[in-house]
Amino acid sequence: VKLTDLGTPALVVEQAALTHNLTAMAAALPGERLRPHVKAHKCTRLAAAQAEAGHRHFTAATVREVVGLARAGLGEDVLLANEVVDRHRLRAAVASGARLTVAVDSEETIAAAAAAGVREVLIDVNVGLPRCGCDPADAGRLAERARTVGLAVRGVMGYEGHVVGLPDRAARVEQTEAAMRLLLDAHGRVGGDVVSAGGTGTYDINTWATEVQAGSYALMDTAYGELGLGFVAALGVLATVISVGSGGWAVADCGLKALGMDHGNPTLADGGVVWYCSDEHITFSPADGAPAYRVGQRIRVVPAHVDPTVAYHEWLHVVDGDDVVESWPVDLRGW
Ligand SMILES: Cc1ncc(COP(=O)(O)O)c(C=O)c1O
Repeated sequence: VKLTDLGTPALVVEQAALTHNLTAMAAALPGERLRPHVKAHKCTRLAAAQAEAGHRHFTAATVREVVGLARAGLGEDVLLANEVVDRHRLRAAVASGARLTVAVDSEETIAAAAAAGVREVLIDVNVGLPRCGCDPADAGRLAERARTVGLAVRGVMGYEGHVVGLPDRAARVEQTEAAMRLLLDAHGRVGGDVVSAGGTGTYDINTWATEVQAGSYALMDTAYGELGLGFVAALGVLATVISVGSGGWAVADCGLKALGMDHGNPTLADGGVVWYCSDEHITFSPADGAPAYRVGQRIRVVPAHVDPTVAYHEWLHVVDGDDVVESWPVDLRGW
């Protein structure tokens, strides 16, 4: 299959860039030092490549991801790094056969885990991101509560999501240390041997965690690309120019329903200037001195945020030059 055979918009991954990213991460955080977060790619074939690179324990954000990993034979040790109160869904995660550990941060989530037959949990600690996680001062009490209802507490997790994207490395270092001081303090009261934290932006900074939950590093996006992390852009959306306007602009079939836009506009691989995206369209103009776009021409759109971009697509095509080497289903979508 050739690149020209793909219907657009199509999610494409450069094989060499993906291999570079997987290899670089496996060298930096070998084996179980990395617990890859599958929410970034939602693809069991890509997770299998991460397992081949040595990382056999995974992080998930949804029950669907847990169940899919287990079905694909990747359920050796899956952390559902998210709060779930839906007992029905939690039972499906338990029934998947994965070794399952669930994040809990309240009496309610502990009760739901126990009722659903979950056996192992981590106490999720808020280390500065206004999202999930208990007050660090409450972590010991919640651990005791979990043990009282029969759950094994493996340790703590605390995602420093407010730090991972800071452009200044010195600020990332300083704020990761501050966040991890909170997490280690909570760990002292919780016990267990897992301290799970970190993301792509702090993968080589967070030496306090026993395991790092990075996910974006495999495919990358322009937001993380600006941080100079040593990973390269592997992901793009292939699009077709469908109209050329008389005012110097062109339009392709890759709108915000094919792109995660919460980190801003995408960029064009050829240096073209993006004007804006609407539902099904991207409007742009040629780079300075570049020829006008032609109707039917293919372009490569590079998203600013990998996770939501992937979640819009059914297939992830691995490409090498003009060849489509493999097409992988994005099979962990949904909840
Ligand atoms: C709980 C959790 N851990 C880790 C990550 C790290 O992901 P990334 O590789 O995108 O920094 C995320 C991303 O949002 C997350 O939600």
